[in-house]
Amino acid sequence: MSEATTLTDPIISAHSRVPEMSIADVELPKETVGDITADHPTMTTRNVDVFYADKHAIIDVSLDIGRNEVVAMIGPSGCGKSTFLRCLNRMNDTIDICRVTGDIKLEGDDIYSKDMDVVLLRARVGMVFQKPNPFPKSIFENVAYGPRIHGLARDKTELEEIVHQSLERAGLLNEVKDRLDQPGTGLSGGQQQRLCIARTIAVNPDVILMDEPCSALDPIATARIEDLIDELKQNYSIAIVTHSMQQAARVSQRTAYFHLGHLVEVGATDQIFTNPRTKLTEDYITGRFG
Ligand SMILES: Nc1ncnc2c1ncn2[C@@H]1O[C@H](COP(=O)(O)OP(=O)(O)OP(=O)(O)O)[C@@H](O)[C@H]1O
Ligand SMILES: [Mg+2]
Repeated sequence: MSEATTLTDPIISAHSRVPEMSIADVELPKETVGDITADHPTMTTRNVDVFYADKHAIIDVSLDIGRNEVVAMIGPSGCGKSTFLRCLNRMNDTIDICRVTGDIKLEGDDIYSKDMDVVLLRARVGMVFQKPNPFPKSIFENVAYGPRIHGLARDKTELEEIVHQSLERAGLLNEVKDRLDQPGTGLSGGQQQRLCIARTIAVNPDVILMDEPCSALDPIATARIEDLIDELKQNYSIAIVTHSMQQAARVSQRTAYFHLGHLVEVGATDQIFTNPRTKLTEDYITGRFG
């Protein structure tokens, strides 16, 4: 990201300026502009459509999530970012009126196949939410829960090792090692979010999905999570939804711009923010609407 680039955070700009255009005024490109593929894809999605009853929320979206990369998903509120993210670990299954079509594969396996074990899938494709949501259990139990139900530890010592290692990788161990038996809900917001990340990585996922993981956190806690995301990409594929242009620019290697259910443009993060190929992307990142 070049320093010369000025980015406008739509959350801030929404308060500081009158939008010059409405979302509905714009013309959508017929297909996604840019390369939807990753060099070493962990997940591939092709021609994905999502409906909530008769509302068409995601329209013919195709995108790869690659190994050791962070893909940022940006776009105006209601454009379908969370809906698309939830397709990747079948979280939309929990919404009765939601119907997903298209092809989504994890390491070549069709995740919507009837043979797919959804509990296992959600371990392989973990999710971190906007609001930290630790279980009402101890710090230790929050992290031990997944490895225990998936039978990842042979004995207590191995389970303790997994818990320590996960907390360490989530950058939380030093702050909590003397109080692992205390409730996870007693931690600060930023610590709770790192606990949720530790819980996610404890089950050895391939992919980590993050839906606005810092929006409830202060700038210092946000910076810690961003550093963590940068480290985690060495071992995982990460897709992050964010409303912050700066965050997308800081943490991601590729950025995907969604608009009214369409994936309008995808490309290297530097290119998207310095030289977007569509007017829609440019209008969004310069704060013309949000
Ligand atoms: N459970 C649901 N039932 C019905 N419609 C839904 C549901 N969830 C989302 N939608 C609709 O689908 C569209 C996409 O919503 P989604 O939450 O994916 O957007 P988003 O890009 O994540 O927005 P935000 O930035 O505000 O979180 C919206 O029109 C929304 O109203
Ligand atoms: Mg959302």
